[in-house]
Amino acid sequence: MVIFGATGDLTAKKILPAIDGLRASGALPEPFAVIGMARRPQEEFPHPILYAQGDFDEDLGYERLSAILAAVDEKWGRKSNRIYFLATQPKYFSTIVEQLDKHGLIYSADGSQWSRVMIEKPFGNDLESALELQREIKEHLDESQIYLIDHYLGKEGVQNLVDFRMNGEFESIWNHAFVENVEIILSEEIGVGTRGKFWEETGMLRDVVQNHVMQLLSLVAMDVGDDIPAEKIKAVEAIRPVESMHRGQYGPGAINGSPVLGYREEAGVPKDSNVETFVAGELYVDNERWQGVPFYIQAGKRLGKQLTEIVVTFKSGEILHIRIQPKPAIYFEEQTEMHFEKPRFSDGYQKLIYDALQGNQDSFVQNEEQIASWRLLTPILDSWKEKQDIPIYPAGALNELDPRLSTLPL
Ligand code: BG6
Repeated sequence: MVIFGATGDLTAKKILPAIDGLRASGALPEPFAVIGMARRPQEEFPHPILYAQGDFDEDLGYERLSAILAAVDEKWGRKSNRIYFLATQPKYFSTIVEQLDKHGLIYSADGSQWSRVMIEKPFGNDLESALELQREIKEHLDESQIYLIDHYLGKEGVQNLVDFRMNGEFESIWNHAFVENVEIILSEEIGVGTRGKFWEETGMLRDVVQNHVMQLLSLVAMDVGDDIPAEKIKAVEAIRPVESMHRGQYGPGAINGSPVLGYREEAGVPKDSNVETFVAGELYVDNERWQGVPFYIQAGKRLGKQLTEIVVTFKSGEILHIRIQPKPAIYFEEQTEMHFEKPRFSDGYQKLIYDALQGNQDSFVQNEEQIASWRLLTPILDSWKEKQDIPIYPAGALNELDPRLSTLPL
């Protein structure tokens, strides 16, 4: 495995610990080598892995990388499979893929050795840039070699949701005849912290709605079939276009009794910023199954509670909770929790890396899916460009199910 951006936060916090965990549980193929590539000199990098220093857009680093890979192959006496993990800033994604191809480091998709590329979000920041990125990457990679990561798909609670759907027990009532509405809530206590500058260019719709919330929605709404990725694409493509969503921004307030800054006071944020930290919307999946059933989505930072949950309200009045976190659970109100087998990997990155090594793309984002998501949401981003004022909510004051959420002015 070659990790690009090896000296970054994600590598230290998630990728290397996941590899250690996989190794400890005997889930890695043997032999297995990890090579880091980044701009910083190796001395600054504390982990004892092979290392190729270089700029992502210059040949030198890739020549060093080629030499290391050749030495590994030589030592093992065979050509090794390769997995490239792009844990870099998004502006380098297409450059790295192009350079890998140019330096002969990508096997053809139908050969006996494989090479796969894992890419962390964001994949573009609107429809046009996502299409452009897709086009650039596909010049060098086959779809079967691309593993787009949404870390929500590695979560235990999301794996339970997939099991719940695949198990089929509720299929006969999972439709408009029985379901009144579906709520998808991604409520966070945290603010933007030190990511103010990043947030100014991103906002809540791009940061969590386009990916995590839409993934949850597609897993709830999809038809059950053997090809989950294909079913999810169909579900997202069936969503009726929307022109507007509610948005809000947190002002000063308190979380768990301690005062916290408003978004405009956070480092890197201009005093007159209109970037959203909260989004609420109403979506309709225009297919036979979901005729007329509203899917209410809500996602926000500095709300009163840390909770990611899907709530399905049935016309009978029964309410099903699918809690993703904290503490994953699926239960009808006033009834006992359903039981799910513990997934093999409780750590999401372990699961995703393992699946990519196995060539299993079920828990990865398909290109068409994320393009469909951008197609749906880009008009909303555009509509916000024109509106200058944004409603402010006090940090910590909105409970995740507070009816005021959906009455924020558009
Ligand atoms: C990330 C977003 O993708 O997901 C963060 O960039 C967000 O802003 C995070 O806080 C939420 O993920 P989790 O795993 O903490 O629920």
